[in-house]
Amino acid sequence: MKILVTGGAGFIGSNFIHYWLKNHPQDKVTNFDKLTYAGNLESLKDLEKNSNYNFIKGDISDPVSVKEAMAGIDIVVNFAAESHVDRSILDPAPFITTNVVGTQILLDAALKNKVRKFHHVSTDEVFGALTLDSKDRFNEETKYSPNSPYAASKAASDHLVRAYFHTFSLPITITNCSNNFGPYQFPEKLISLAITNLLEGKKIPVYGDGLYVRDWLYVEDHCRAIDLVLEKGKIGETYCIGVDNDIPNILIIKKILKTLGFGEEKIEYVKDRPGHDRRYAIDATKIKKDLGWQPKYDFDQALEETVKWYQGNKDWWQKLKDKKFEDYYKRQYVTR
Ligand code: NAD
Ligand code: DAU
Repeated sequence: MKILVTGGAGFIGSNFIHYWLKNHPQDKVTNFDKLTYAGNLESLKDLEKNSNYNFIKGDISDPVSVKEAMAGIDIVVNFAAESHVDRSILDPAPFITTNVVGTQILLDAALKNKVRKFHHVSTDEVFGALTLDSKDRFNEETKYSPNSPYAASKAASDHLVRAYFHTFSLPITITNCSNNFGPYQFPEKLISLAITNLLEGKKIPVYGDGLYVRDWLYVEDHCRAIDLVLEKGKIGETYCIGVDNDIPNILIIKKILKTLGFGEEKIEYVKDRPGHDRRYAIDATKIKKDLGWQPKYDFDQALEETVKWYQGNKDWWQKLKDKKFEDYYKRQYVTR
């Protein structure tokens, strides 16, 4: 089987390629990635000599290179996206070009190429925000109510994917997943930023009151869920992925501080994210019941392993915190 993985040089995409070639070593994987600031081939260095893996540098919003990459492909798994909420607030335009226009160009090429399946990797952020005092969780029936430019662009991409199923019978599936953490995450997201900042002797910037809640999932559990959807998922359907692991940011930060032996003097409260969604939580009953998915990883243990990974792989992340990153950091973080 030939699989086209878009955005395979990013955090989840690179974990997915490792996962896939370990569990399906006979398949051929093409990684199609633009190599934006978030794309990093170092994450896939160990696969360079694997004859079942190849890389194409390309942009999903460029129909010519997408058409070429799609030739002979059986399955598309679309991870390629601008993925960081804060950057979508600083500059929404690339989020529309990649997440919306790029997805439509991929869908068109997949349709023309008659692929067997097009899987779209999406997010729980399309559902908007839950309140802290409710026990509600997002599920496949929750109405879309995206709040950030990132979430709105992912919502638009989901709608396009569904539309290509209903209108053109393109065999699609969609997953809407909660926050991931683990190795190879660009050091701009809460957990990877917190760990790497501490390892550099810096503080952890905490938005607002620190009581925002996310449902954190270890990245390999996400990869396994996508594998199950590809294997057994019903065409045209959406599956929500999450682990009932909704924890306030400040508690996660305290766990990381403890693991690395630091105290709360390393916490710095900073200006809040505009339009900050208060709480995300997922009800993953459907994927558990219909496809038999279960998360394998315990949060505390996986978090400790993740801290160790960043401690042991400074070569991987230190060079990502370059001058460009510093400029972004200065623009993004304003001390209260
Ligand atoms: P990431 O930012 O780490 O990686 C994105 C990858 O896409 C990078 O390698 C980048 O170079 C590539 N890319 C960006 N624009 C491109 C373009 N125009 N053409 C080709 N490649 C392009 O993102 P991630 O955290 O790995 O997220 C992957 C996907 O999963 C995204 O679609 C995101 O919306 C979704 N998702 C992420 C999370 C999370 O917690 N990180 C949770 C749920 C869903
Ligand atoms: O829910 C899934 C989504 O999770 C994905 O679709 C996105 O691609 C991914 O980036 C992530 O979005 P979040 O905005 O939830 O993740 P982030 O790591 O940016 O922030 C997590 C929480 O931590 C959120 O409440 C904001 C807060 N935060 C984040 C950063 C970067 C801070 O307090 N300080 C920070 O410096």
